[in-house]
Amino acid sequence: MTQIRHRVTEKSDKVPFDKYSLYKKAVQSPDGDVEFLERAYRELKKAKPKILREDFCGTFALSTEWVKLRPGYLAIGVDIDPEPMEYGRQHYASKLKPEQVKRLTLREQNVLEPGLPLADISVALNFSYFCFKQRSLIKKYFENVYRSLRPEGVFFCDVFGGSQCYDAIEDKNPMKGFVYYWDQVNFDPVSNEALFHIHFRVGRKKTERVFTYDWRLWSIPELREILAEVGFKKTHIYWEGTTRAGYGNGIFTH
Ligand SMILES: C[S@@+](CC[C@H](N)C(=O)[O-])C[C@H]1O[C@@H](n2cnc3c(N)ncnc32)[C@H](O)[C@@H]1O
Repeated sequence: MTQIRHRVTEKSDKVPFDKYSLYKKAVQSPDGDVEFLERAYRELKKAKPKILREDFCGTFALSTEWVKLRPGYLAIGVDIDPEPMEYGRQHYASKLKPEQVKRLTLREQNVLEPGLPLADISVALNFSYFCFKQRSLIKKYFENVYRSLRPEGVFFCDVFGGSQCYDAIEDKNPMKGFVYYWDQVNFDPVSNEALFHIHFRVGRKKTERVFTYDWRLWSIPELREILAEVGFKKTHIYWEGTTRAGYGNGIFTH
């Protein structure tokens, strides 16, 4: 046991502190996600998707995987912040083939502004839309999404929930070469607002609050009601199974 710990520490010391790379390893699985999205779209619509728009795209890891998935697939990443997009250009887009880069478009834009680019699949992942705390704002975003879908379009978003989401706990997850902490600081049952941080430890150094999320925790019934109000005909719930350790296993039933 001691030996293993020692080896991990040695390895960890060599991992550079790159917050977006650590974030991707800790909380994203864009290669699996694009396969899920394609499969779910085909099952729901009995049609082939082509254009995926990734709202709140950050480093647009998902868009990068979409253009790699099939020749002819187009991806559009939308984010308000140029910093993660520049990281994505340097670290992810730079690894694509020139032909794949041509099928990738990036837009620095607020998703609340009208005129989101048209798409077959529109995606908001890692609960990013929870940043909209007022009903009027989240509704405005969903209206924009609805207007931006092509005739057979589908909007996919994930939902953060469950009884443990309300507890003030710090979840420690050892990863290959670093430790990822999910810190639930505060939940206010009156407003349903909650504050979360991501910390990372690389080697012996723990860097606190690398990412902070100031959210309102929206429930599934609330989201379904608002989606219906803006025009969505049907909503489906895909429920992820869990491993023995209690983590998501990537297998969804609906
Ligand atoms: C948690 S990151 C999501 C990164 C990535 N899409 C993922 O799945 O992990 C949230 C992103 O949303 C962006 N964002 C926040 N408010 C936005 C808005 N109103 N319009 C567009 N992007 C926004 C932030 O700049 C940030 O890059």
